[in-house]
Amino acid sequence: MGAGRPARRQPACAAGVFVKAGKDTRAAQEEIARLRVEIEQHNYRYYVEDAPSVSDAEYDGLMRRLEALEKDHPELVTPESPTQRVGATPLAAFGAVTHAVPMLSLGNAFDEEEVRAFDKRVTDTLRSSGQLGPAAEPDYFCELKLDGLAISLRYEDGKLAQAATRGDGQTGEDVTANIRTIRSIPLQLKAGAPRVLEVRGEVLMNRREFERLNEAQASRGEKVFVNPRNAAAGSLRQLDPKITAQRPLRFFAYGWGEVHGPAGRQAGKFDEPAPGTRETSTLPRDSHSAMLDWLGELGLPINTQHNRKARGADGLLDFYARVAKLRPTLAYDIDGVVYKVDSLPAQKVLGFVARAPRFALAHKYPAEEATTTLQDIEVQVGRTGAITPVARLQPVFVGGVTVTNATLHNEDEIRRKDVRIGDTVIVRRAGDVIPEVVGPVLEKRPADAREFRMVTACPVCGSAIERPEGEAIARCTGGLFCAAQRKQTLLHAAGRKALDIEGLGEKLVDQLVERGRVKSLADIYSLTVEELADYDRMGAKSAENLVHAIDKARKPTLGRLLFALGIRHVGETTARDVARHFGDMDAIMDASEEQLLEVADVGPAVAASIHRFFAEHHNRDIVHALRQQGVHPVAEAAARTGGFSGKTFVLTGTLPNWTREEATSHILAAGGKVSGSVSKKTAYVVAGAEAGSKLANAEKLGVPVLDEDGLKQLLGVRE
Ligand code: IVH
Repeated sequence: MGAGRPARRQPACAAGVFVKAGKDTRAAQEEIARLRVEIEQHNYRYYVEDAPSVSDAEYDGLMRRLEALEKDHPELVTPESPTQRVGATPLAAFGAVTHAVPMLSLGNAFDEEEVRAFDKRVTDTLRSSGQLGPAAEPDYFCELKLDGLAISLRYEDGKLAQAATRGDGQTGEDVTANIRTIRSIPLQLKAGAPRVLEVRGEVLMNRREFERLNEAQASRGEKVFVNPRNAAAGSLRQLDPKITAQRPLRFFAYGWGEVHGPAGRQAGKFDEPAPGTRETSTLPRDSHSAMLDWLGELGLPINTQHNRKARGADGLLDFYARVAKLRPTLAYDIDGVVYKVDSLPAQKVLGFVARAPRFALAHKYPAEEATTTLQDIEVQVGRTGAITPVARLQPVFVGGVTVTNATLHNEDEIRRKDVRIGDTVIVRRAGDVIPEVVGPVLEKRPADAREFRMVTACPVCGSAIERPEGEAIARCTGGLFCAAQRKQTLLHAAGRKALDIEGLGEKLVDQLVERGRVKSLADIYSLTVEELADYDRMGAKSAENLVHAIDKARKPTLGRLLFALGIRHVGETTARDVARHFGDMDAIMDASEEQLLEVADVGPAVAASIHRFFAEHHNRDIVHALRQQGVHPVAEAAARTGGFSGKTFVLTGTLPNWTREEATSHILAAGGKVSGSVSKKTAYVVAGAEAGSKLANAEKLGVPVLDEDGLKQLLGVRE
């Protein structure tokens, strides 16, 4: 869901559609009530479940109808109406709110040992208090540690009465007007709410929506935010709620604060719901998980997709490892996971230490962002001559590794981020993604910070640098004359998706090119064990293995060989499609643009690029030289099982054995396609653990769903 959607879902105040209700107040009242329920249901489906049930146009229609009725009957407008989410009048300052039940923090663990120590403390205490049998292990509830900001929502008689930030834990700021604009937060709880209910949770912004917000901010010349947490905090601390209303904020509940029923105030706590009264007797008392379910039933967004029960320290560590794998695929940032003893009576026995509960623990992941000094900006030359500015950094530990270089993408990006040499910068490394410089810390900019100047000649071969009009990327014009481009071309050709020559890595390619031994791809095939053993870091055994790998690469599939040539715009899938269509290399080399356009999914840019490539003699020479070296591609397997050509698969969740890449390559090999979103045209959805809204969509649209075994069976793969 895009950032555009929340904005489009602003009720169009000046819609100008004035529909005279033409009914008496009673009828209007009924219709208004019906519309409000319906609109909030759509909000829930859209903002919480990520599964919209109506089109934007239908939604807008309902909203306009409600606005018109309310305009006609202003006496019927209530603060809970969805029309009131546009943002109230700006404030001069935020008021202070004293939390009835303090908002505590959590103890942290950074390694396995600390998690085991936590589990042991909990187990020992619960066993000695009789809460747990002598051999029993505690049940935990595991959640994601959302990287946003903590908020307390106070509902009175089911209506949102106040919202406050955590502040120092005792006193926070009153952000009610802003919180009311967040559409996933109910203004009115469903039936069954106690007289007072404080809900604790996290406000955050999805990464994609954060990026779009930043793009929009930058294009208006306004402040860009360094990360989603910052953007969420900045958006919530706006004195003008109309601005907050434009920001794509989300909320997840993870606990409660004060809770009491109508018979006077009861001592409600995070760990201790109010006892006694008839109304409160329906409160969940047994477990944290039941409490969350109950909050969900009241209409609050709960992270049901990822929360899990676990037993014992091993169960906790499993959860941690599983979420670590999911982390890069999540829509939002997390900085760890949280383990909570599930039993509420057990939580009570464990109690609190200082300002944190003894029954809960945050297990942190390595930070994905850190600050360091930008010592210099150098440029790298890629396979196609693209010049990429690279930041040389004071080494910094981020995302679990020490980072010394980070990409700055291109010249415009450096200007947009206003990064200068000498700056203190924020560096981000998420998952296995290449580290990048997020932006400078302006307060720390030294007086002598220098702006980056793009080189005018290639630092490797001295050829001119060109930056075509309208393109972001500057390129070295040296082609294969440029040693940097030659090296990258060879590395690309040796890559796993191309000729798959194991052992032909960067260090060796550098030496082969620098010594002038390898000038083009074909030269690789004449390397001998004896000469290779003479290269740095090459033992006799690795030389032998490499020559063996090279020999194996004399029979690549035609698609792989075509991909290995590194033609611009020709990725792995296109190469395979073209290979299947033409059947042999000569036919591809001689194909006209029109003939190339006959291949399904090949458009004009790709056809022109292939045609241009083979129009160059030196490129045809490479193919001939490869033949002379005994490289004879084998025909691309036709869509193996026949029936998958053109069929689209969608992968969701984590499969037990195959990685996403493995599943994708098996599907592609069988002639199928892989897409990121489910539609009526999807042939199959392949769902693993933690499958998300795509699975729900598949079920809704009646698309067949397979698990990993089902997929293997279908593809006829035995593994
Ligand atoms: S429980 C008694 N659960 O982490 C403490 N906190 O250091 C209640 N956070 O400021 C907190 N995700 O904003 C809890 N699933 C989660 C959380 C979570 C994020 C934040 C929270 C708090 C900080 C605790």
